[in-house]
Amino acid sequence: MSLDGQVAIVTGASRGIGRAVALKLAAAGASVVVTATTLAGASKTADEIAAAGGKSLAVRVDVSVASDVEALFKETTATFGRVDILVNNAGITKDGLLLRMKEEDWDAVLDVNLKGAFNCTREGAKVMSKARYGRIVNVSSVVGEMGNPGQANYCASKAGMIGLTKSVARELARRNVTVNAVTPGFIETDMTNELSEKAKEALLEQIPMGKLGSADNVADAVLFLVSGGASYITGHVLSVNGGMYM
Ligand code: NAI
Repeated sequence: MSLDGQVAIVTGASRGIGRAVALKLAAAGASVVVTATTLAGASKTADEIAAAGGKSLAVRVDVSVASDVEALFKETTATFGRVDILVNNAGITKDGLLLRMKEEDWDAVLDVNLKGAFNCTREGAKVMSKARYGRIVNVSSVVGEMGNPGQANYCASKAGMIGLTKSVARELARRNVTVNAVTPGFIETDMTNELSEKAKEALLEQIPMGKLGSADNVADAVLFLVSGGASYITGHVLSVNGGMYM
């Protein structure tokens, strides 16, 4: 699965799944643009890539801000001359039951998770359509497929990403730009470390494989979708959930 000579942008790559994806794409030979909400966060992962002998660039980006995203693509093409791969991974949660959910918590989650993916995909589509090559992967979630009490905003944003994936896949297919989604189940990261032990145990009972996934499991799926082996796959939603939802 060599990505030699290719350039990838990974959003939200300071830690967790995004970091694992950035490291994996770099190990496969891609130059990786690591983005996060702080330059220090992005630089940490970019430094890890450089220490392993890879090429990387750290950029501070709030994906919900269109001008930040435009600047990201300008800086990437100025530095590396192209963008072959975009992984829309940045995401947040602001959980609460619907009846108590504040409008600002709804807006914040939709702004980062769904509008952020839209902002990046639109910029990516411009460069990739022109180049007649591109690979876009959206990091959605199992709960975007099955719903989850207390996460109406998050689930709506993640389900929205699946609709975005399929629509843009249809729009860009003739340009040799594939657009796919991965739907991770419960993955051990900072996001899930916040759960109580009781909540974690209840979750484990729902997972046929009986364990949480790792960020690396998700990164493997992303690597496959951007590799030559997936060249005839577009509009697909790939579950990485230990059998939790099928
Ligand atoms: P995390 O909380 O460890 O990392 C999130 C990353 O997104 C960080 O790098 C953060 O800087 C970045 N970010 C947050 N807001 C941003 C913004 N406005 N602009 C740019 N970057 C921003 O999260 P984790 O667990 O690694 O999740 C990554 C993705 O995977 C998210 O989209 C999440 O919804 C999704 N996911 C996670 C699962 C899990 O079990 N951890 C399960 C299913 C999906």
